[in-house]
Amino acid sequence: MSDNAAVVEAVHEALSHVNDPEIRRPITELGMVDTVTVEGGRLSLTILLTVAGCPMRDTLQRDIAAAVDAVDGVEELALEFGVMTEQQRADLQVKLRGKAGAEPVIPFNLPESRTRVFAIASGKGGVGKSSMTVNLAAALAAKGLSVGVADADIYGHSIPRMLGVEGAPTQVEDMIMPPQAHGMKVISIGMFTPGNTAVVWRGPMLHRALQQFLADVYWGELDVLLLDLPPGTGDIAISVAQLLPTAELVVVTTPQQAAAEVAERAGAIVTQTHQKLAGVVENMSWMELPDGSHIEPFGSGGGKVVAEALTRDVGAEVPLLGQVPLDPKLREGGDAGMPLVLSDPDCEASRAIRAIADQLAVRKVSLAGKQLGLSPV
Ligand SMILES: Nc1ncnc2c1ncn2[C@@H]1O[C@H](COP(=O)(O)OP(=O)(O)O)[C@@H](O)[C@H]1O
Ligand SMILES: [Mg+2]
Repeated sequence: MSDNAAVVEAVHEALSHVNDPEIRRPITELGMVDTVTVEGGRLSLTILLTVAGCPMRDTLQRDIAAAVDAVDGVEELALEFGVMTEQQRADLQVKLRGKAGAEPVIPFNLPESRTRVFAIASGKGGVGKSSMTVNLAAALAAKGLSVGVADADIYGHSIPRMLGVEGAPTQVEDMIMPPQAHGMKVISIGMFTPGNTAVVWRGPMLHRALQQFLADVYWGELDVLLLDLPPGTGDIAISVAQLLPTAELVVVTTPQQAAAEVAERAGAIVTQTHQKLAGVVENMSWMELPDGSHIEPFGSGGGKVVAEALTRDVGAEVPLLGQVPLDPKLREGGDAGMPLVLSDPDCEASRAIRAIADQLAVRKVSLAGKQLGLSPV
């Protein structure tokens, strides 16, 4: 083997440790390494991006430079970016998704799927459903799990802001690469609407949007997917049940009795959809005053009431997974795109959320709920 051929081989080997930042697979496997030539210590590389103006180009450039820098015989790097042809993109899609022309399937419904899907539901808005979604997701990711978050709250999408995601998803053919934040893959209907335009969609379009989230997004291997549902028992809740029959519902409520009643209605939907109920989260349970004493601005008992009522409704134990106190830092974290469990992991609210995440991370019989013996809808 000539010296050059040996160096070229070493470069290929170095590049096989560089992952595409979005797809998270080696660029060598994805057909992104186009030409590699070495002449007198000068390495000329052409890398094919999936789309022109790929937002991850700088990251890729840095990673590639770092990887080849370590190769003996490379003194200088001339890196050029090209763009995949339509055929190359189609090949990539086949590589990622399987058979050409295959209908997009929802990977979480495949029998071999190891992903646990939780749909976070509430009776009404403002109870902290999205805040719980992002903090539970961050807590699960911090445990080392591979986590996806899908914002299915078509009208009130707030997940991107709460996780500090600004980028738009990249599209490879008809596959969508979800942006990442704090180690999680994040997709929101908000990423597909320009600015903050109000979205007025009818049922069938909602269903289609949700199906896209689930099928067209390249999620990779996820341990957990959290879906932030819109409040109430509307179209999306029904669509989730149809599209993801194995999704387990987590019901969020405040301690207030009135909130508890509507939360119960949101949870009771599973008696019609045959989904499982993972449990109830009570949020805004109390607030600690500077002198260390606790007040309960929203009363008490709502979470327990909902868990008991749902246990009766579904005929299986529905646990109260935890109670999360009010903490102004939690709201600030939401506004700043940094979940509280990451910025202040030891405060009381973070500890409560982590304890709930721990219960969601393990598959326990008591969490699985039970399906009612009704015939399918
Ligand atoms: N435990 C909490 N402590 C302090 N603020 C909270 C808490 N939970 C939620 N909030 C705040 O309450 C508001 C509503 O929460 P959000 O998660 O958007 O509710 P939902 O998704 O149910 O509409 C947000 O401003 C959020 O930051
Ligand atoms: Mg919300």
